[in-house]
Amino acid sequence: MTAYFNGRFMKKDEIRISPDDRGFLFSDSLYEVIRYYPGLLYRPEAHIRRLNHGAAHLKLASKDFSHLIPIARDLIRQNHLADQDALVYIQVTRGAAPRNHPFPDPAPEPTVYICVSGFDPAVKDRQRKTGIHAITVPDIRWARCDMKTTGLTANVLANQQAVENGAVEAIFVRDGVLMEGTHSNFMAVFDNTVTTAPLSNYILGGITRETVLDLCRDLDIRVLQEPVYESRIHLASELMITGTTTEITPIVTLNGRPVGNGSPGPKAAELQTAFFQKIKARDFTDT
Ligand code: PDD
Repeated sequence: MTAYFNGRFMKKDEIRISPDDRGFLFSDSLYEVIRYYPGLLYRPEAHIRRLNHGAAHLKLASKDFSHLIPIARDLIRQNHLADQDALVYIQVTRGAAPRNHPFPDPAPEPTVYICVSGFDPAVKDRQRKTGIHAITVPDIRWARCDMKTTGLTANVLANQQAVENGAVEAIFVRDGVLMEGTHSNFMAVFDNTVTTAPLSNYILGGITRETVLDLCRDLDIRVLQEPVYESRIHLASELMITGTTTEITPIVTLNGRPVGNGSPGPKAAELQTAFFQKIKARDFTDT
């Protein structure tokens, strides 16, 4: 596989990252995962906007990464993935410097790494059709979940707990509110209204979440960006997660209890159909 590292295209397994890299030492680092559908890189500008948002808040030496979009496309071509499903992974760190908590002075060049991989959508396709099991876990993450940093320990532990309980995703609960999944956003349907946590520092502003909310408007589905309380979750007729790798996936049991009638619901199905129509039509203003 050819990857991109600090300005150069290189064989992925020849890339050497410094042990002093602050991404390695401190998770002082941001990432993005972008879906590639045959012929369509999915909303790369939106992903870069989010990366730039994180870079500004982390006060990285570089704050605009839009030049990485053509590089990502190039990597898809160079790795012969243009006609396939694939993922682009981008990681940017503050750079390498001897270990010390404050920002190094002078600021090192950020480390920039991009790789691509083929993505077999079969498992996710099946999960989208049959729905998934999910659990809830206490949200022990920090209070800047709007930045997509690689500090994912809480997400890893929670997702592992899900797997050990026969589930696919864990939904973080903070102060009695279901916030988002370990690698997805979370939506519930109450009285035909799609309800999802409002954007804040406690959730990641998902690119798929944004698309799904736009689709709701197109489809005249009522939307509320309001807290989804754990105490009311049994009243939801449908639950779903949204994300780059999960797209729109219904949750059919939460903590072992069936959601609605225990099978994927009509709103998720309607949104999935509209989502794939949009992809087929390449109907994105920012791609
Ligand atoms: N994660 N919330 C969290 C905590 C996430 O990690 C992700 C995505 C999302 C959904 O965002 P988007 O729709 O932009 O993918 C929400 C990626 C896919 C990952 O960590 O692999």
